Amino acid sequence: MHVPTIIERKRDGYALDEGEIRFLVRSFTDGVMPDYQMSAFAMAVFFQGMDAGETAALTRAMLESGASFRWPEHAPRVVDKHSTGGVGDKVSLVLAPLLACDDLWVPMISGRGLGITGGTLDKLEAIPGFCVGLEPEEVLAQLERIGVVMMGQTASICPADKKLYALRDVTATVPSRPLIVASILSKKLAESLDALVLDVKFGSGAFMKTRDAAVLLGEAMREVGGAMGVETRVCYHPMDEPTGRAVGNALEVVEAIECLRGGGPEDLRELVLALAAEVSTAGREQLTAWLDDGTALAKFRDLVEAQRGDPACLDDFAAVHPAPTVREICSPNSGVVTRVDAETVGRAANALGAGRDRAEDAVNPAVGFDRLVKVGEEIAAGDVIARVHAKRSADAGEAKNKFLSGFLCE
Ligand code: URA
Repeated sequence: MHVPTIIERKRDGYALDEGEIRFLVRSFTDGVMPDYQMSAFAMAVFFQGMDAGETAALTRAMLESGASFRWPEHAPRVVDKHSTGGVGDKVSLVLAPLLACDDLWVPMISGRGLGITGGTLDKLEAIPGFCVGLEPEEVLAQLERIGVVMMGQTASICPADKKLYALRDVTATVPSRPLIVASILSKKLAESLDALVLDVKFGSGAFMKTRDAAVLLGEAMREVGGAMGVETRVCYHPMDEPTGRAVGNALEVVEAIECLRGGGPEDLRELVLALAAEVSTAGREQLTAWLDDGTALAKFRDLVEAQRGDPACLDDFAAVHPAPTVREICSPNSGVVTRVDAETVGRAANALGAGRDRAEDAVNPAVGFDRLVKVGEEIAAGDVIARVHAKRSADAGEAKNKFLSGFLCE
């Protein structure tokens, strides 16, 4: 088979067969097909799409690029959740340990920041020492001990997604339905789950801008997940304003810890409880109690310690990554907040250094926004509507202007 011909066929709108898709994924994973050819292919898929058969074939090829976990007979129910990506979405950091309080196994494989959205791995790596690259034997041993693992794709688990995900992030090829389906489900199917809940986002800070587009994505994932034997639940949530009041890797860890202490912003807590209830055997009342009585936080500490992070720093995480410049943004007028645009905030956070321009870039854990005002709140002129955490004073000024361009109070 000839890679340029396959790219050309997709560019011209033809459906590829399973053999062609497998060949591309294998060549790319093995390093035979260079990044520039895969980038061109991803852009062709972005414009031409894929039909249901191609999408399922791509998912299978990416799944089979690595190994899948096989759980022992005595394993309890194995569950997970995945979000299609949003701004300020730190739900996984709270939800994974919370589900493990229910004596379930949660072998969560996540990604890094993607486009304007943050990534669970980048947030976890803001915790000093936290290691997201685990070997399969370590995963099993940790699940037996504490019931939860939070890791990334590795050379042995989902290597195709590891490479393609990083490439899509920096080639403007993220918001493509078949690429999202294959990326998410190849990771989740490798976990050999009993049940999966998908948090499909729509709105300015999501890859799917409308609810209709989100439903098409959700249904495609339900179909592929179900056909591969996983009980797949799909929830739809708006992403027009950031989740919670913090955006940026370390700032989001601070907020996740607040939620694990029974506090934190109401929208974050509600999202965590709603999604957890979809796959947990415990009721919402019990899940709420585990957040409020410190059980979920203790599980998070166990997780941090098990993955070589420093659990002591969780007591005062805000002090771990102080940004050189912290500047308040004040409301130019009084009224009710009608817009805190998630896309604008996501782009501004990326420009501060919370995301990547090139695949090899490192993220800056300290930068971003906190104390974000929420839509519906009544404020007076001069009230603080956000704080910018920046590396330099000039960056903070630019971020403030960007933020204000997406803010409305009437
Ligand atoms: N999350 C993923 O893992 N992959 C995507 O493509 C989008 C969100």
